[in-house]
Amino acid sequence: MHVLLIISGGIAAYKSLDLGRALRREGHDVHFLLTAAAEAFVTPLSCAALSENPVHRELLDVTQEAKIGHIQLARMADVVLVCPATADIIARMAAGRGNDLATTVLLATTAPILVAPAMNPIMWAHPATQRNLAQIEADGCHVVTPDEGLMACGEIGAGRLAEMDVIIKAVGEAGTRGPLSGKHILVTAGPTFEPIDPIRYIANRSSGAQGFALAAALARLGADVSLVSGPVALDTPAHVQRINVETARDMRDAVEKCLPADVAIFAAAVADWRPAEYHDQKMKKQIVELHSLAMVENPDILAFVAQHQNKRPDLVIGFAAETENLEAHAQDKMRRKCCDWLVANDVSGQEEQVMGGTRNKVTILRKDAAAETLDWADKQDIADQLAMRIGQWAMNS
Ligand code: C5P
Repeated sequence: MHVLLIISGGIAAYKSLDLGRALRREGHDVHFLLTAAAEAFVTPLSCAALSENPVHRELLDVTQEAKIGHIQLARMADVVLVCPATADIIARMAAGRGNDLATTVLLATTAPILVAPAMNPIMWAHPATQRNLAQIEADGCHVVTPDEGLMACGEIGAGRLAEMDVIIKAVGEAGTRGPLSGKHILVTAGPTFEPIDPIRYIANRSSGAQGFALAAALARLGADVSLVSGPVALDTPAHVQRINVETARDMRDAVEKCLPADVAIFAAAVADWRPAEYHDQKMKKQIVELHSLAMVENPDILAFVAQHQNKRPDLVIGFAAETENLEAHAQDKMRRKCCDWLVANDVSGQEEQVMGGTRNKVTILRKDAAAETLDWADKQDIADQLAMRIGQWAMNS
């Protein structure tokens, strides 16, 4: 796992260096992130040497942002561990501040967040600290409760950083949690290829980028993801089970084999039609010119799953690429295909090219709520935002 270890400025910071080493021994890839105050206790050089990774320090560091920006950092982490967590960083997290790199990443990540506090017993017991801890726990952070004992400041009481093996165990467990853990999610992505003869086929411009980004984002939230993909030039996201298909009929069969699923998301651009006849031999130019190609309709995989007799997933999400009257067409599609949510996007290319491009702008329609339009964003960001909403749905259902 990629563990992002945020060190804030407390005397227990020195222990985080050993913790980083121990996490590496457990097989994790560790990235250190230091707050400004942490640098008074430990040096970036020690962190870099121990992790063999760049150390992340300043929010507004131009070179760092160019190489690995705060959003990429937030996305890269499978688990974020704040250790030691001072009263101050806990207060800033509780308030939703993003006033340095650490708090910005904490706001931007969808990975599980572990907080290991360490502070003077009076600070620990202070009602403000306890109030802030309750708030971050309500926001989904997991707090590794500090021990009682003799503190560096000479006082005795609660507030000493938890033992290293307790924190390491919590990191291991956090990696298998997340709002979607235990959920099986099926995602279709990419185009389908509909063969005419051994050489030629009918296809479309879908790159699969949005569906793959979504599969990755869902896996990061702990889902068990099956990704049924048409032919695309993309790497399989981490922790995702990929099934490759070519035609719409193959895709339907693969999807059916993946059921049951808790959630099914249909991001594939399935060809609506296929050539009625497949020619075993390469067709001669003259024949193609003389005869127009007869076509037959492909199965509608989304409608098939959304109306499945006994294996309908609890949440069925369709995508709709439209070139005009986006919302009206999408509403109509949602009703016709019996899906629960529909993610509509404008592929007219009037504002920006979506198909084959890196960015997207979507409107999310839900059967039981008002439509919501997300701003233009990187397909990864759109995926994270969608995955987060699916995570919220899972927690409320
Ligand atoms: O092509 P259309 O606009 O009807 O696609 C809307 C939704 O239906 C998409 O989610 C797409 O993945 C799905 N679909 C499907 N099987 C088809 C056609 C579309 O699953 N044959």
